[in-house]
Amino acid sequence: MKDAVSRETPPAPEAAQGVFGSRLAQAEAYAGWLAIDGIERGLIGPREVPRLWDRHLLNCAVLADLVPRGASVGDLGSGAGLPGIPLAIRRPDLQVTLVEPLLRRTRFLDEVVPALGLDNVQVHRARAEELHGVVTFDVVTSRAVAPLDKLARWSMPLVRGGGLMLAMKGSSAAQELADARKVLDRLGGRSAEVVSVGAGMVSPVTVVRVQKNSGTTKARGA
Ligand SMILES: C[S@@+](CC[C@H](N)C(=O)[O-])C[C@H]1O[C@@H](n2cnc3c(N)ncnc32)[C@H](O)[C@@H]1O
Repeated sequence: MKDAVSRETPPAPEAAQGVFGSRLAQAEAYAGWLAIDGIERGLIGPREVPRLWDRHLLNCAVLADLVPRGASVGDLGSGAGLPGIPLAIRRPDLQVTLVEPLLRRTRFLDEVVPALGLDNVQVHRARAEELHGVVTFDVVTSRAVAPLDKLARWSMPLVRGGGLMLAMKGSSAAQELADARKVLDRLGGRSAEVVSVGAGMVSPVTVVRVQKNSGTTKARGA
């Protein structure tokens, strides 16, 4: 594991112990990668460093509360590994695939994942659309990738029948969901709602949660 927790890496706040438990050291090592290599390679802005834990690691890790045990997870537009890596650290029962088209980012991910000893994570360089008809996941996650209607077109064909799309969204979640309802219906969304996770551990995180109809695997003309 890389010795990356240096004086440049903000120390883990108390909440991190509650969220990551016995895997806190892995989360600290990832924070170190983001704070040093992530900044040097332009994957995250230097202003993010003081808020690495709250805004990135913890915020993403609590998404795990919506993911069923043993699920396969496709994290679309993973960037520097968010939310996929915090999810995989917190939940070793998950099989997480980080889907990211940009080579500079997948190179970083290809280094970080083995350095953290994350046996349950794969990196796949692709645009989401390129995987339609190729693979499906129990759960498809994303954060800060696209407006919900576009995200639905990219994500829903990758969700297996009966599976979930989980889109981390901010205060715009309800409006984005209202705007995307028709698209989600056409793509097999059975129920779609805005939910909040992480209360009591971190600042609550807003997520659009869509369950796909059982047996629906293909987009219907969206
Ligand atoms: C703003 S970044 C967000 C990164 C990360 N999810 C986060 O929250 O920090 C958006 C990411 O989506 C990726 N992306 C853009 N178009 C995509 C597509 N069609 N399929 C998958 N990823 C895409 C970009 O390369 C970029 O890494």
